[in-house]
Amino acid sequence: MQRSLFRVENPFLANTLLGDGEPAEDGRISRRRLVLVDSVVDDIYGARIHAYFAAHDIQADVRIIRADETLKHWATVEEVLAAMADFGIDRRREPVIVIGGGVLCDVVGFAASLYRRGTPYVRIPTTLIGIVDAGVGIKTGVNHLGGKNRIGVYAQPMISLLDPSFLETLTERHLANGMAEILKVALVKSASLFTGIERATTLGIKAVFSEPSHAAVADALVNESIHLMLEELQPNLWESNLERCVDYGHTFSPIVEMHALPELLHGEAVAIDMALTTGISLRRDLMTHDEAHRVLSAIRGLGIDPWSSALADEALLWSAVVDATRHRDGLQRVPLTRGIGDHVFVNDIAPVDVHAGTEFIRAAVPARAI
Ligand SMILES: NC(=O)c1ccc[n+]([C@@H]2O[C@H](COP(=O)([O-])OP(=O)(O)OC[C@H]3O[C@@H](n4cnc5c(N)ncnc54)[C@H](O)[C@@H]3O)[C@@H](O)[C@H]2O)c1
Repeated sequence: MQRSLFRVENPFLANTLLGDGEPAEDGRISRRRLVLVDSVVDDIYGARIHAYFAAHDIQADVRIIRADETLKHWATVEEVLAAMADFGIDRRREPVIVIGGGVLCDVVGFAASLYRRGTPYVRIPTTLIGIVDAGVGIKTGVNHLGGKNRIGVYAQPMISLLDPSFLETLTERHLANGMAEILKVALVKSASLFTGIERATTLGIKAVFSEPSHAAVADALVNESIHLMLEELQPNLWESNLERCVDYGHTFSPIVEMHALPELLHGEAVAIDMALTTGISLRRDLMTHDEAHRVLSAIRGLGIDPWSSALADEALLWSAVVDATRHRDGLQRVPLTRGIGDHVFVNDIAPVDVHAGTEFIRAAVPARAI
């Protein structure tokens, strides 16, 4: 992690970007770069980004791309491909740079992997989900024919540069969205990270990520989450082992998210999935009543409603189990929490479990919300 990448006095980014392209035969390195920037990020940081590149003599051709979940589709991939063609990339010396949230990072990673059979790219994620999740793996994807991330590739970036100072301008809702992915990792791997999340909800997550006095709390959460995430991803980058504990929260959520789009953000759908599977763990005596309710309180402490109208449709939820089983080579391989901070994989989720999961949430949320 490196704070304030775009502070003009900080040479780290320029040195990294200029060192990442191969020199030409005459030893020259290209200072041209195509930079794809999320439009909201450009509104806030555009002047700083331009000033940085100018000060470090990098000829940045900055293209602004609108990106959110409703635009995470093939047309946006084509927009990026067109920008690459128009810029006339020399793929050996001019890696593409993406600055934006998980959506733009996924779109550009996908487009770069297609352009001339693979153009190197550098990721600078600017959201919490981007920093703790989308920015640390090698997966890219966009939504297609109603399916979440249905088309995509494994496309390793040259480097991901993680700068938590971008989080100061993120809305509370998008911070909570990212905290849901941190909660995912905590629930399957680390009771102490879970306690850290509980503490952050008490302090207020906007304060945690924007007040300098809480910077140590924010950095500890982000660092520990990335560390635990990498521990899982690194030995299994291409997912040959289909039992992945970081798939926790991602069995029901793809269908819930696409069903509710644009009402639910990605992390909100993941949180709803985690509430549902917490109910399943409770039913199977994998968690105590107290532990299960601590999880629900943490979700609500993030300001996320664990209920969604999609939960009323148990046939829809069951179709998510069928879909996940197909992806996971014929076995469910559903990670469930065992207590807080540990997990097991199960292959025998039945409709009655799904019902118990929805009933658990229904019993805990105010009737007006259902
Ligand atoms: N590839 C992976 O391994 C992986 C992992 C997790 C999630 N994802 C994907 O990530 C996506 C969600 O990412 P996201 O939550 O970053 O969504 P996002 O990219 O839509 O960003 C959320 C919003 O924040 C704005 N924004 C970005 N940076 C900002 C900043 N610094 N300050 C203020 N506003 C800012 C964006 O314009 C957008 O409106 C999902 O599509 C999910 O599938 C991918």
